[in-house]
Amino acid sequence: MARRRQLYEGKAKILFEGPEPGTLVQYFKDDATAGNGAKKGTITGKGVLNNRISEYLMTRLAEIGIPTHFIRRLNMREQLIREVEIIPLEVVVRNVAAGSLATRLGITEGQRLPRSIIEYYYKNDQLNDPMVAEEHITCFGWAATQDLDDMVALTLRVNDFLCGLFLGVGITLVDFKLEFGRLWENEEMRIVLADEISPDNCRLWDTKTGEKMDKDRFRRDLGKVEEGYQEVARRLGILPEA
Ligand code: C5P
Repeated sequence: MARRRQLYEGKAKILFEGPEPGTLVQYFKDDATAGNGAKKGTITGKGVLNNRISEYLMTRLAEIGIPTHFIRRLNMREQLIREVEIIPLEVVVRNVAAGSLATRLGITEGQRLPRSIIEYYYKNDQLNDPMVAEEHITCFGWAATQDLDDMVALTLRVNDFLCGLFLGVGITLVDFKLEFGRLWENEEMRIVLADEISPDNCRLWDTKTGEKMDKDRFRRDLGKVEEGYQEVARRLGILPEA
């Protein structure tokens, strides 16, 4: 295969120049990090599973009218995406108390929240992705008020849909992180869902047993990390070809 120009390498993915202008190839690695790179490791087969899981979820979301950067999966580890200008925010949605919310506020992990909470984090490795408020976002120009309104509206729809989709296969969507980008078409800009949706950026618990099937297995050294990701893919009916 012809060598392609690498544009960016992140902790779990690499972006290459795409075959046509305005497209990129997103490559899923097996590398895993936690605590902003403090813990590093490899989860064998993770890239293949996340590529499939993210393809599946982005496709289902596009079917209900959520605009995404996803075009199509190219092979086991790569997908073709639209080039967008990434908004430097992580939008976290929480349905059940866990992770940093439980730690920071002393809330018991596993407690269902009376309503879903949306939080914003500024994407900046050097600053450890600090939590920010809407005021900071608009003050420093990371997103305009209208962009943020669009992101919140999309996030709530994604949460509603994914909660139902996962519940149907016996999985509780505890929390997850989304990223968005600006896509220009015919001189018009719209906000689209970007990055990936996978067990790397969702907390997914078995609804009956509470067993964790996501990256917390890696973060907390619970073992059987790959098996957790595989189980999510199996329940969604998309275990990749051997
Ligand atoms: O660690 P915390 O509880 O704040 O994480 C909330 C959700 O956001 C989790 O599902 C986690 O996987 C995701 N997340 C992420 N990338 C980050 C921080 C959190 O995908 N940098």
